Amino acid sequence: MQISDLTKYKQADAIIIPVFSKQKGCATDLLPEDLRKEIKPIVKARVSGKKDEIEVTHLIYKKKPLSIYFVGLGVEKDNCSYSFKVAGGKTANAIKDHKYPKVAIFPNHGADSKEFLFFFTLGFLMGNYKFDYYYADKKKKQHHYKEIQIIRAANEFSKERKKELEAIAKAIYYTRDLVNTPPNEMTPTQLAREAKAVAKLAPKQIKVTVFDDKKLAKHKMGLILGVGAGSDEESRMIFLEYKKKPKNSKPILIAGKGITFDAGGLNIKPTNYIEDMKSDMAGAASVLGLMRILATLKPDLHVIGIISSAENLLGAKAMRPGDILKAYNGKTVEITNTDAEGRLVLGDALSYSTEKYKPLFVLDMATLTGACIAALSYETSGVVTNNEKLFKKLQTASERSAEFVWPLPLTKTFQEKVSGDISDYKNWTAGISAGASMGGAFLEKFINGYPWLHMDIAGTSWTPEKTPLSPKGATGTPVHTIWEMVKQYC
Ligand code: BES
Ligand code: ZN
Ligand code: ZN
Repeated sequence: MQISDLTKYKQADAIIIPVFSKQKGCATDLLPEDLRKEIKPIVKARVSGKKDEIEVTHLIYKKKPLSIYFVGLGVEKDNCSYSFKVAGGKTANAIKDHKYPKVAIFPNHGADSKEFLFFFTLGFLMGNYKFDYYYADKKKKQHHYKEIQIIRAANEFSKERKKELEAIAKAIYYTRDLVNTPPNEMTPTQLAREAKAVAKLAPKQIKVTVFDDKKLAKHKMGLILGVGAGSDEESRMIFLEYKKKPKNSKPILIAGKGITFDAGGLNIKPTNYIEDMKSDMAGAASVLGLMRILATLKPDLHVIGIISSAENLLGAKAMRPGDILKAYNGKTVEITNTDAEGRLVLGDALSYSTEKYKPLFVLDMATLTGACIAALSYETSGVVTNNEKLFKKLQTASERSAEFVWPLPLTKTFQEKVSGDISDYKNWTAGISAGASMGGAFLEKFINGYPWLHMDIAGTSWTPEKTPLSPKGATGTPVHTIWEMVKQYC
């Protein structure tokens, strides 16, 4: 599929024209004169611009069928980049069965047209995603557009922004693919292969290092090894170093939880909680998504992506509740719940990488707690931080990506409750309830005091139901936000 931006409409099989309610005249002025005349009465009679209204007219133009869709956006002042994105997603869903080879998306002259075209098209691409690699029947495989044209005025929507849009959309698709891939295939070893494949896209800028079980043992990374012990699959810690003429001398660390399947370990998850647990590597997949954007756009940055990956099963060698493990940083952790494994694999990754790379700041993404979903549901990532300023940067990023974040407290009490009874720490404390904050409080013990953001993406990286922007399954969140975050340091 090709995304092209044109300053003039050429020819397509379907045209999408967005309209606000009460908007005087939509972007029909970009249509050829004869076509505009033909549809004028239709627009007058049927197009209201009401939110979610999609009016279509099918006609023959230059001897070929052409369908023109008028997409209602509602009242202009009620709109924002998020609503543009959702409108794009709804449009994709409304027209996808027609399988138009070429579709042209028109701007909206009422809106700040740059933002409109960017977010509407992004939403359109997101809504069009389908995970269809596993059907034996080829007919079930979805048609992908041959071309999506973005029609813009000459001074709107730069070439760079179009490239960025394409890179972000592809990264979201890639991240979704990684998360949706079944856990018998997407193992820690496979994640390491994926990392190497991403690095190949920019071999001059990206270097990959992989720690296998032997290397992890050599580095005395007892937490990640403890989690992986119950599985026949080996664990992997993966480092992707992206570097190109950075302004900052210190690198940015972006870490991701990569549990390729979370059965819970001996604290096994019950029915209704275990089914979607292949998604427990969404943080890792988001690291790879970001790296793909970097490989494509090649910004002047120094970013280190770290994936800490294991499978949490319950084999004979599985860690038990009551076991005490020794972390990379020498601290001991009593395993009070084998299902609180994400903080363990990340603990070793964060303490090792902050010590080694002395970063500007560190950000981790993890499907860490069900408690975060209970608090914030499926559209807002919970954030725990030790640095207000850094959180402000993340808020700016989230405004630019139209993905939502919300702060969760890191109180003294939470910080103290991580202490163990007979060890330095325990990985779960009964009776606290603020599960998402407690997860953050545990991680904080492993960041060596560096400025840090922890994003709990348990709710946002996976949707249990279809939405306008995503089928049931992986969403690709928060790849776009993380890109907007690191972009602020170019
Ligand atoms: N991977 C889960 C968290 C999760 C739950 C992600 C639902 C996505 C959807 C995590 O490893 C886990 O099991 N967390 C426990 C923590 C508890 C034992 C402290 C939880 O949320 O119950
Ligand atoms: Zn778990
Ligand atoms: Zn987990």
